[in-house]
Formats: sequence, structure tokens, C-alpha cells
Amino acid sequence: KLIVSDLDVKDKKVLIRVDFNVPIKDGKIGDDNRIVAALPTIKYVIEHDGKAILFSHLGRIKSEDDKKGLSLRPVAERLSNLLNKPVTFVPVTEGEQLETAINNMNDGDVLVVENTRFEDVVNGEQVKRESGNDPELGKYWASLGDVYVNDAFGTAHRKHASNVGIASNMDKVAAGFLMEKEIKFLGDAVDNPKHPFVAILGGAKVSDKIGVIDHLISKADKIIIGGGMTYTFYAAKGMGIGNSLVEKDKIDLAKSIIEKAGDKLVLPSDSVVAEKFDNDVAHKVVDGAIPDGYMALDIGPKSIQEFKDVLKDAKTVVWNGPMGVFEMSNYAKGTLEVGEFLGTLTDATTIVGGGDSTAAVKQLGVGDKLTHISTGGGASLEYLEGKELPGIASISNK
Ligand code: 3PG
Repeated sequence: KLIVSDLDVKDKKVLIRVDFNVPIKDGKIGDDNRIVAALPTIKYVIEHDGKAILFSHLGRIKSEDDKKGLSLRPVAERLSNLLNKPVTFVPVTEGEQLETAINNMNDGDVLVVENTRFEDVVNGEQVKRESGNDPELGKYWASLGDVYVNDAFGTAHRKHASNVGIASNMDKVAAGFLMEKEIKFLGDAVDNPKHPFVAILGGAKVSDKIGVIDHLISKADKIIIGGGMTYTFYAAKGMGIGNSLVEKDKIDLAKSIIEKAGDKLVLPSDSVVAEKFDNDVAHKVVDGAIPDGYMALDIGPKSIQEFKDVLKDAKTVVWNGPMGVFEMSNYAKGTLEVGEFLGTLTDATTIVGGGDSTAAVKQLGVGDKLTHISTGGGASLEYLEGKELPGIASISNK
């Protein structure tokens, strides 16, 4: 189980899998956190006279048309700005142009290969060479380098040619610093937490979080539930839910969680409700059951206080999923106050995973007060479910 600093990278062609799958619209990058998070590994390699050859996917490619807005070129430009040095962008994923560009690199140079998922569509046909881990593709990419570093934690739940494929064809493989950090924080939280350990799980669907709840029931001291999935639990308890979100086919599952978790499970006791899924309609706070004709869109002030009471003595907190429809200002309070409170828990290890809660933490500006904000969405969820992630297994089972 090596990390990049265990490798000799001097004069070496270092293939680095990063997760540069950042939000991008009309060629403009939204949040560049994932690029920033990969910098320590890239810098290490170039400062130690290696040649950094970067691979990443961007978006999902199902047709030739999808390729238009999903080139990695703008990402390579942002990387160049962040590193404050030129970065070579190669607009193809294989062939002479790529091989020549790599052969022309000097020690300390950085090169970005075009979106690896362009290999998913060849001549208009969806062949999934990258996302289906085509063995020939992994072998080819591996042939371009001397050593391999996987720093793409965000992609670790995928079995791609550029992570699992390359790794299986290389003798010298290692984790990057970001990968190492993610595994350390998420791994310690799940397997070796300081107690009290509190998990906060929100979001719309129970079905998305069921694996995490199941895995954490035996490990956490409390599991706080918020967000839309609350009302499937309400339904399981026979409480009225009005027009709130509910997954009818998960009510029995919610019942069994309630039984299994006992008083570890903390549900909101009040909610902010409105007649429509709309920021600009009248809304009010109700206790307990949701009245007919209303839908719950955020947790209420009593719940916020009760959650804070549970959280105040915590030594480890893992948070995944918003407490309400935080994109709408009138239903953002639950999510924002929970995030803000986590920022005050200076004695605790506080970890945030999942795209939405990360966005909420950013919106609040408390990010730097928390111990760790995972760059993984699906990957951090699957990690918290206790699953083996193929991207990690392929470098640690070597
Ligand atoms: C992510 O953003 O979760 C990863 O980059 C994986 O992307 P995907 O969900 O398109 O496979």
C-alpha cells in the first residue's frame, strides 16, 4: 500500500489518474475544488523531476454529440493557472499525437490527456471502452508510462480502464495524497471513530442512503435523519405526511430500520411546510405529522435545536445529504444551521461527503472549519456503506 512519496518518480513518466469531473457549462468551470485537491500529488511529482501525465473523465459520454461540451481543455487551462506553469493539453485519448507529446516531455512537465470517456463512444457507437474497463485500453494506457498513481478518490467506485485497467497492467502503483487523505478520514470515521460518533443523513431518498444507514447502525451512537427521506420514516410510524416526498416501496424498510436502530435514530420533530414546491409561496412550521395539502420542505427550528443537542458532545461527525430543499432560500435554514454548528465543534472530527452537503458547506463558507470535505459523491457514499471500491482495491491489492 504505497503512496506517491514512496515511489521514485525522477525521470519517470508518471501516469496519474485524477478526478477532474468538475461542473462545467459552456466551457466555464463551476467549482474547481477537485482540481485544487489534486495539486499536492501533481506538485510532488513535478518537484521531484517526474513527468506528470494526467487522466480524467468529465461528464458522461453516450454519443458523439456529448463530446462537444465535455473536452478537458478548459480544465487543463485552469490547472495551468493553479500551478502557475504551462500545461500541455492533448486533444486525443490514444495514438501517435498522444505518444509523441509524451515522448517530448521534459522532467517536471505536466500533460493532460483528453477526457478518458471519449473512449466510450467510437465512430458514433457506444462501446464503453473506458467505463466498461476494456482490457486493451487499460493495457495501452499503461504502456505510456513507467509508474501509476491513482489520486481519483471521486472515481474509486467505478471500474474504469483508467483506474482499474491501468493499475492491473503496471508493476509500480501507488495512491496519491488526496486518495490517502480521503481513505484516512472516511476510514477512521467508520472503522475507528472517537465516540460519541454521530452520523447525519439527509437527502430526498431513503433508497440512496439505506446502505449507509445499515452499515452505520452498529457503529454510530446516533443517526440523525433529515431531508425528504424523513417522511418515508414518518409514514413507517403511521404519521400523516400530506404531500411530502415518500418512497412507498421503502416504508417497510424504514420500519425495520426504526426497529433495529431503536433510540439511536433521531428524526425531526417539526418541519417547515408549504402547499407547493416553490420558494415563493406561504410556508409555516408544523409539529409532527404533516397536514393534508402541505409538503415538508425543511426541518423546523425545534429539530434544529434537538440536532444541535445531540451533536454538541460528538467527537466524530459524518454528514451526508441536506436537511431540506436548501437551494431555495426559505427552506435552507435546516441545512445551513447544521453546517454552521458543525463548524463550531472544534473538538470533533467533522467530515462531509456527498455533492449536496458539500455545496451547502461552501454556500455557508464554513468549509475551512470542518476537518474534511470529501471530493467524492457516490464514492464517499459507497465507502460509508462499507463496500470495497474497485479503484482502491486495484492499487491496494497489488
Ligand atoms: C463523481 O462525480 O461522482 C465521479 O467523478 C464519478 O462520475 P460518474 O457518476 O459520472 O461515474
